[in-house]
Amino acid sequence: MTDAQQRPLLVAGNWKMHGSRVMVAELLQDILAGLPEKPAFQVAVFPPFVYVPQVAETVADSPIRFGAQTLSEHDAGAYTGEISGAMLVDFNADMVLVGHSERRSLYGESDQQVADKFAAALRHGLKPVLCVGETLAEREAGQTNEVVARQINAVLDKVGIEAFGKGVIAYEPVWAIGTGKTASADQAQAVHAFIRSLLAAKSDTIARLLPILYGGSVKGGNAYDLFSMPDIDGGLIGGASLTGKDFLAICDQAQKVATGA
Ligand code: 13P
Repeated sequence: MTDAQQRPLLVAGNWKMHGSRVMVAELLQDILAGLPEKPAFQVAVFPPFVYVPQVAETVADSPIRFGAQTLSEHDAGAYTGEISGAMLVDFNADMVLVGHSERRSLYGESDQQVADKFAAALRHGLKPVLCVGETLAEREAGQTNEVVARQINAVLDKVGIEAFGKGVIAYEPVWAIGTGKTASADQAQAVHAFIRSLLAAKSDTIARLLPILYGGSVKGGNAYDLFSMPDIDGGLIGGASLTGKDFLAICDQAQKVATGA
């Protein structure tokens, strides 16, 4: 088995602040009805907090996994408006996004806070999906690897390399998020390979087994090329995860890559 074959592809939908009870019910129904009978890849959705119980109930006993889009770095206490890892586990969530670029840029989450959230997720037995990525200005200044390394090293310093054995990384170049401008498969592969080499310097085994997702304007039309790259292990999907048709088009490509069809 090659390293890539040991890392099952993951297609994950980040719904961001979209949805309603009706929309969530219809979207999940469409996805459940349209998934291959035996998906050769993993599927997950990240709804807004308030829809977590509805998702939990609807996807129980199905291949769809789910989690939240962020969590508090604290376990409990006087933190008005926050949601803890324990609360997510209480609703059977098993994953959580940490450090999405929108959390970093709009809500001021620092590398340190993201590291604390990653640690909190692990403390509660949730699989953290650490999101990293550079802005357009940083890419144009040739700082992509430096930025991604800084974001990952903050977490490594806090939790150590072994913790990455229980996590996922999502490389999401900020300039590709919601812009319709996807990184080319080669551009994305180059950063994914860099991320894997960064971790391999600490532990070759952990680096080889770590799933690294690509995010940023993934669609049915570009998913095959991206997912076929040796260090790209699936996608974190925003806009195209909001309709069954678009999300399933990406899932179809994942199935093709995973089965070599
Ligand atoms: P888009 O797929 O809409 O570009 O969003 C990507 C993203 O931010 C997923 O977390």
